[in-house]
Amino acid sequence: MIELKHVDKIYGKGDGAVHALKDVCVTIRDGKFTAILGKSGSGKSTLMNMIGGLDSPTAGEVWSDGKLLGALNKNQLAAYRNRTTGFVFQSFYLEPTFTVLDNVAMPLIIAGMKRKEREARAVELLEKLGLADKIHKRASELSGGQKQRVSIARALVHGPSVVLADEPTGNLDSQSGREVMELLKRVADEGKAVVLVTHNIADAKYAEDVIFLRDGVAEMRGPIAESENLYGE
Ligand SMILES: Nc1ncnc2c1ncn2[C@@H]1O[C@H](COP(=O)(O)OP(=O)(O)O)[C@@H](O)[C@H]1O
Ligand SMILES: [Mg+2]
Repeated sequence: MIELKHVDKIYGKGDGAVHALKDVCVTIRDGKFTAILGKSGSGKSTLMNMIGGLDSPTAGEVWSDGKLLGALNKNQLAAYRNRTTGFVFQSFYLEPTFTVLDNVAMPLIIAGMKRKEREARAVELLEKLGLADKIHKRASELSGGQKQRVSIARALVHGPSVVLADEPTGNLDSQSGREVMELLKRVADEGKAVVLVTHNIADAKYAEDVIFLRDGVAEMRGPIAESENLYGE
């Protein structure tokens, strides 16, 4: 479980300062699908960076399984991230000239695993995710939806407990977007905490817990009903 207690984030100083998060108190439950929903500029990516230990708050505390992240030094925090979290981004960040297999196995190099074991692990996961026929293709040969599913495999390969995805469907057509959402749902159903950052209400409807952000203020709530329009448009 990850808990944020009275988290503030202020970028910059003086007249140019931006108060991106304001007294945010939220919980990410183990094994649940959580959406961080809000319009552009509402603070979603900033909040995801706090939850994932990629950035630290200006004030307040981030606790993960009883550990205070602010008390870890740089190396301890990097080790925590490598062990606990997997990240998925809108623009995939795959190595275009590498094969799918090498892209997915890459985090295991950082984990110090031997090549044979890395490749076996990556192949097993790619097969499970329905990407068996793509294993030896270069990343640049894939469609957007396939690239995003490969990047989800890369986020999972080292066995994290939390997967954080920042606008993962943002560069995809609606059909590929749905496939990516279904895959993330499956990841949560199999016991990982999934944290989805999105401005898209339809995508947020996959979530069991919803953190609704408005100008840096967070409201924690349950699932969004089919007919609900949170933006009031
Ligand atoms: N590194 C930064 N430096 C200064 N301002 C930032 C930085 N990152 C984000 N912001 C500002 O913080 C606010 C929230 O940004 P962000 O978390 O990226 O929102 P979202 O992901 O919802 O679009 C915005 O006003 C944005 O311009
Ligand atoms: Mg963002």
